Amino acid sequence: MPDLEPAANGSSEQSRAGGRYFTRFTRAQRYLHAVLFTTFLGLAATGLPMRFSQSFWARRFASAVGGFGTIIFFHKFFALVLTLAFLIHLRVIFTRGVVNREKGIFWGATSMVANWKDVKDLVGHLRWMVGLGPKPQFERYAYWEKFDYWAVFWGMIVIGFSGYAMWFAPFFARFLPGWALNAVLVVHSEEGLLAILFIFSIHFVNTHLRPDTFPMDMVIFTGVESEEEFKTKRPQEYQRVAREGKLEERIAAAPALWFTNFSRVVGYAAILIGLVLLVLTLSAYFT
Ligand code: HEM
Repeated sequence: MPDLEPAANGSSEQSRAGGRYFTRFTRAQRYLHAVLFTTFLGLAATGLPMRFSQSFWARRFASAVGGFGTIIFFHKFFALVLTLAFLIHLRVIFTRGVVNREKGIFWGATSMVANWKDVKDLVGHLRWMVGLGPKPQFERYAYWEKFDYWAVFWGMIVIGFSGYAMWFAPFFARFLPGWALNAVLVVHSEEGLLAILFIFSIHFVNTHLRPDTFPMDMVIFTGVESEEEFKTKRPQEYQRVAREGKLEERIAAAPALWFTNFSRVVGYAAILIGLVLLVLTLSAYFT
C-alpha cells in the first residue's frame, strides 16, 4: 500500500545497458507479492478440490496426494503463511502511517486510497476505449490497481475470518450462534470462488494482457521499469517526480538478464496454473 523507499542508485550500470531504469517496487513489496501469489495458488489448488470434491479431477488429485486429509493440511499451511504476510503488511502500514506519520500513505498522489481523480480516470478510460477522448494520464497507481489491492485486502479479512471460524469451530461457537457457523462455510466457499475467478481472469488480464504490457508485466518481479515504460504508463507520476527533482533518487540498475528470465518462467508458471484452475472451476461449476 505505501509508496516507495528510495531506490538504489545504479546510473552507471543502466547507462551501459542503454537506457535509464527506475524503481517502482521495493524488495519488501516484491517479496510480499511473491508470498501472496504462491500462497494464493496453493489455497486455490487445495480449496477447489474441497469445493468440487465430486468431480473426477478432485478425486484424482486427492488420491494422488494421499487423500483429502492431505489437501486440508496444505490448505491450512498456506493459510497460516498468508495470514502472517497480511499481518506483517498491516504492521508496515501502521508503522509508516500512524507511528512515523509519513505523508502520502492514506491520501494523495502516492496513496492506495481511491480519490476523485480515480473516478475521472475510470470515466476517461472508458471514453478513450470507444474513441471518445484522450487516454487518461495515470499517477502512481491506476484506478484498477487500487481496485485489485482493496479486493484482496477486504477479501483477506472475509475469507480469513470465515476460514478460522471453520477451523476453530468449537472456540467460535462460544460467541457465534449455530446458524452463523453454517453461514461461514457458505461465505468462505463463495468468497473463495469469487477471489479465484477474479484473480485468474480480471487481474491476469488487467496486469499482463493489456496491449502495453502483453505478454507479461515484469515490474512486480524485477522492481524496476524502463524510462519509456515509466513515461508512457504513468505519465503524471513521471512529471510529478521530475518536478519534485526526485527522478535521480529513483534511478536503479537494469535488471540482470538471468533474473528477468527466471522471473518470466515463474510468472508464466503461475499464470498457467491459474488458467488450469480457472478451466477446472468453470467445468466443475457448469457440469
Ligand atoms: C486465512 C486464510 C484461510 C483459512 C484460514 C482457510 C481455512 C479453510 C478451512 C478450515 C476450510 C475447511 C476445510 C475442511 O473442510 O476441513 C477451507 C475450505 C475452503 N477454502 Fe479456505 N482458508 C483460507 C483462505 C482461502 C482462500 C484465499 C481461498 C481461495 C483462494 C480458499 C478457498 C477455500 C475453498 C474453495 C474451500 C472449500 C469450501 C467448501 O467445501 O465448499 N480459502 N478453508
